[in-house]
Amino acid sequence: MSNIKVLDLEFVPYIDEITLANRINALAQQINNDFEGKNPLFLAILNGSFMFAADLFKAIHIPAQISFIKLASYKGTTSTGNIVTAIGLEESLKDRHVIVIEDIIDTGKTLSEFLPQLSIQGLASLEVASLLIKPAALQYDVKAKYVGFEIPNKFVVGFGLDYDGYGRNIPAIYQLK
Ligand code: IMP
Ligand code: MG
Repeated sequence: MSNIKVLDLEFVPYIDEITLANRINALAQQINNDFEGKNPLFLAILNGSFMFAADLFKAIHIPAQISFIKLASYKGTTSTGNIVTAIGLEESLKDRHVIVIEDIIDTGKTLSEFLPQLSIQGLASLEVASLLIKPAALQYDVKAKYVGFEIPNKFVVGFGLDYDGYGRNIPAIYQLK
């Protein structure tokens, strides 16, 4: 693998396709075991998680459903700051075993705002599967049970992750040089 350019920035190879595939399959096996007989509902957060979600879901061999949602953030009228809402969520989540699929947990802000909105809907259980997490960047209390890779606090692109909307199509993960 050689360096790539996305817009004005140069990136170096970081996690190759085979390593990604192996790790994602291992996560799926874990989920297959943990959710046997529970008919989980995966909620993949667009746009970033689409590639991870596809590969993970293909390796899920128990009865399961998947739905894709987009999180929109808008300024609240109170001092609580931004409010995150889910667009495209049509299923009832009541009594469901829900697994949220995310591309990366950085500060944890997004999920720390979104997960409580799911929790109040009377789920049977709620877990997070994130391909990447940056432990050094974490500022909010977010727990992901299924994590592909812990990575340093450096910007990455590829495999669904973008830099200014570009780079999502790159089939492996690259790190800012
Ligand atoms: P958080 O709310 O700070 O955890 O940020 C999560 C979101 O920020 C992710 O879903 C990504 O869209 C974006 N993000 C964070 N770090 C990166 C990165 O290194 N590359 C690409 N996107 C990132
Ligand atoms: Mg994202």
